[in-house]
Order: sequence, then structure tokens, then C-alpha cells
Amino acid sequence: MTKKRYVQVGLGDRSMMYSRIVTEHLTEYAELVGLCDSNAGRLQLRADWMREQGVEVPTYSGDQFEQMIAEAKPDVVIVTTKDSAHDHYICRAMELGCDVMTEKPMTTDESKCQRIIDTQRETGRGCKVTFNYRYAPPRTQVKDLLMSGVIGNVVSVDFHWLLDTKHGADYFRRWHRNKRNSGGLMVHKATHHFDLVNWWLSTVPETVYASGARNFYTPEMAERYGLTERGERCFGCPESERCPFYMDMRAYPKLKSMYLENEQYDGYYRDKCVFGADIDIEDTMAVIVTYRSGARMSYSLHSFMPWEGYTVAFNGTKGRLEHVCMETVYFSGDGTVPGELKPEGTKIKVFPHFHSGYEVEVWKGKGGHGGGDPVMWQHLFEPNPPEDKYLRAADQRAGAWSILTGVAANRSMECGQAVRIDELVHGLAEPDYPPMPSSAEPLELPGEVDALPPWLKR
Ligand SMILES: NC(=O)c1ccc[n+]([C@@H]2O[C@H](COP(=O)([O-])OP(=O)(O)OC[C@H]3O[C@@H](n4cnc5c(N)ncnc54)[C@H](O)[C@@H]3O)[C@@H](O)[C@H]2O)c1
Repeated sequence: MTKKRYVQVGLGDRSMMYSRIVTEHLTEYAELVGLCDSNAGRLQLRADWMREQGVEVPTYSGDQFEQMIAEAKPDVVIVTTKDSAHDHYICRAMELGCDVMTEKPMTTDESKCQRIIDTQRETGRGCKVTFNYRYAPPRTQVKDLLMSGVIGNVVSVDFHWLLDTKHGADYFRRWHRNKRNSGGLMVHKATHHFDLVNWWLSTVPETVYASGARNFYTPEMAERYGLTERGERCFGCPESERCPFYMDMRAYPKLKSMYLENEQYDGYYRDKCVFGADIDIEDTMAVIVTYRSGARMSYSLHSFMPWEGYTVAFNGTKGRLEHVCMETVYFSGDGTVPGELKPEGTKIKVFPHFHSGYEVEVWKGKGGHGGGDPVMWQHLFEPNPPEDKYLRAADQRAGAWSILTGVAANRSMECGQAVRIDELVHGLAEPDYPPMPSSAEPLELPGEVDALPPWLKR
């Protein structure tokens, strides 16, 4: 079998998963033939790791990307740079005749999004967006239950995501802390959540109203803690003994070798103070979305919570489905599996109209991001992936629809008005989603009613 040729651009923490998949798991049908990063130190680090695996891979700086494509002749470019650089590499790769596999968020604003939509249409190249959250077994199970019609057609969703003071705080230390890099948490993080809702409901958003603020990770909060001597970053900070957010990169081998030891190449500090004045992303966000299917959603995202995970409830014409999910405590690069689910804190309950509610046994998964990462590899990398009735493999259409909710939320926070998605981009088709229960389906009247208290029963 001829092996598919992959190159990677952006060689930070997340990219390692892709290097491993290609070199350790898929050696029969994939090979890594080029590495590219704007940081010479991280580039070298990955090339050294590849050499340890017995593979010599040529390296290229960010501005040698086109040279890499010309010399390595890849079939697929894997894009795992910081978010704001995705569009450049996605578009150049497609223009130069390659398919693309990109990390979320596909990009950070509407003009970059439009360029990706247009370039994909003009070149006809494939552009996969790796939405690993869809593949986490309990989240697939929610899709399965909604497709089964157990609660009828969904008319509204209550969705609340909590990021804790470990993982949530970390967004305020890294490049994510500035919207010019990440689009803020409405784009960077919530793209996962907005994609889940689009896919769970098999629909796309129409209007978005949002309100947000930075309430917690502020210089004033540091003052309230009495952290008056804090430095620009954790490294060498005079408050390191007292600050609950102090993070010592020297204590984490991966963080030390990837970031601390490569600062001289680009001046990037991965441990900036979470209370820094230059942060311009929100930590408290509330959003209302209307969908083409007629459904409504109320959504919130908070990044300074005591536990990490989410609660989501779907209100349907035949009942309500509630799903709660608790994740393990981690931050990116700390050496643990990112975003594993806590089985004891992950539940799914169904409450049919007029009958007693019941708990459903939750589908289990192991591995990163709720067990989604390993399932996703199989679907995205194998030459003959298993048939998927949930249509979880996403392309640039789903990538676009998911970020546009966040982009519209950012705009709504600025202007104070609801924002229409069709004002942001044009020529964007609906993704391929599985059919869902119809809103025209006749409903059966209940016979016996057992869920109601006696005084409400006839
Ligand atoms: N799906 C998930 O669950 C998940 C989890 C983590 C990260 N991610 C995504 O993966 C991507 C990478 O995140 P990360 O945590 O690895 O970040 P990171 O900071 O560790 O790595 C980013 C890498 O890109 C390089 N880079 C930045 N700008 C570049 C440019 N213009 N040209 C070439 N290289 C450039 C940096 O030097 C760095 O090596 C992001 O888009 C992030 O949103 C997704």
C-alpha cells in the first residue's frame, strides 16, 4: 500500500498526538515527511524525537512552509499552530494542491473564515477539522439518544461549561490570553461546545446575543488577594510562595523542554501572570443562540470554577435529557491525559413527559478528551474508516459554523445587539448531519400518567 504523506506545521503540545499517531500507530499507511514551526527550538526538539523513533524528517521554519510543500510533496498538511495562524497555512496548503487536517478552532474571525470557505471551493481540496469532542463516547451517546427520538424534537438547550482554576487559569497564562491570537474563549474554547450543539441537533445557528466580562483574572483581583509584588510571569515571581496560580515550568519536564528552554527563539513566555493587565479575553460569558431548526440555546462559560466539566439539558417535545460530565484536573503539558472524564461524575438521565425519569448507563471511553482522541484517530487517519451513522468526521463547513457562533458572540459583546450569522460570511453550506426526529411527527397522547405527583393526576 502506498503510504499517505503527512507534514505538520505548529509543533507545540497538541501536535505531539499527531506525530505519535503517524509514527507509532499508523506506520502501515502513513508517514511524516516534513516538520515546520516558527520556533527553531521546538522544531529541533521534534526532529530529535523523530530521530529517536528511527525516522529522519526534514525541518523548515515558518517562512519555509512553501519550500517544505515543494520538497516533501505531502498529501496532507496537519495544522496545529496557534489559532490565528491556521488560516494562512490552511489556504496555502490547499492552493498548493494538498488536503488539510486542522485543529480547532478552524480560525479566529469572519474574514479568515471567508477566505478558507472560498479557497476550499476554488481548489476542491479536502479540509478536515478535528472535533475530538464529538467522538467522546458519552457525547456520541447523547447524539444517539437524540436521534432515537426518546425526547422528540429538541426545542431548547441549556448548556453550561465550567473551566476550573487549573486548566481554566492556564488560558490566561498563554497566547490564548489575547483575542488577536485565539479569538477569546468564545472562539478558542467554545468552538468545541458550539460544534457539539450544531451536531447534536443537526442544525446551524442563525442569531447570537452575548454578554461577557473579565471579572476574575484581573489586576484588581490580585490586589484583593494581597499579591501586590507580582511579576510579569511566574518564573522568578516574588509572590510565588503565596500565589495559588503560581506554575513552575521547571517542575514539568515537557513544559521545561518545549517552552522554557526555547524562549530565546521567539520571546514567548508560557507562564505569564494570570492577573496581567494586557489580557483582553473574557472569563465570564453568557450567550443566547437561535438555530435554523427553531431551537434556542442558553449557554454560559466560566473559567475560574472549582470543578471542570459541564451540564447540558435538552428540552424536547416528548421530554428532557440531562447530561452532566466532570473532567479530571489538568493543564496542557503537565504530563497527564488531557480532559479525561470522571466516571462517577458523568451521568445521563432521560425524563419522558408524563412518566418517571430514569438514568441511562453511560458509554465508557478511555484516553484524551473524554476518550474522543483515540476514536477520532481511527476515523480520520485510517484508509477505510468504519461506517459512522453519527457522521462525526467534520470538514470546513462544520469548522466555520462552530466558530461563527463565537465570532458573532464577540461582536455582540462589543455592540450590545444580537448578531446574525449570515451577516458574517456568505456561500457557506450546511454540514452533512444525520437526520433527527421531525417537528411534524404526530405525538401520542399518554395513557397512564406516572411521573406527576398525585394532586396533579386526573
Ligand atoms: N482539540 C483539542 O482538544 C485541542 C487541545 C489543545 C490544543 N488544540 C489546538 O491545537 C493548536 C495548538 O495548540 P497547542 O496547545 O499545541 O499550542 P502551543 O503553543 O503549545 O503550540 C503552538 C505551536 O505553533 C507554533 N507557531 C505559532 N505560530 C506559528 C506560525 N505563524 N507559523 C508556524 N508555527 C507557529 C509555535 O511555535 C508552537 O510550537 C491550537 O489551535 C489549539 O486550539 C486543540
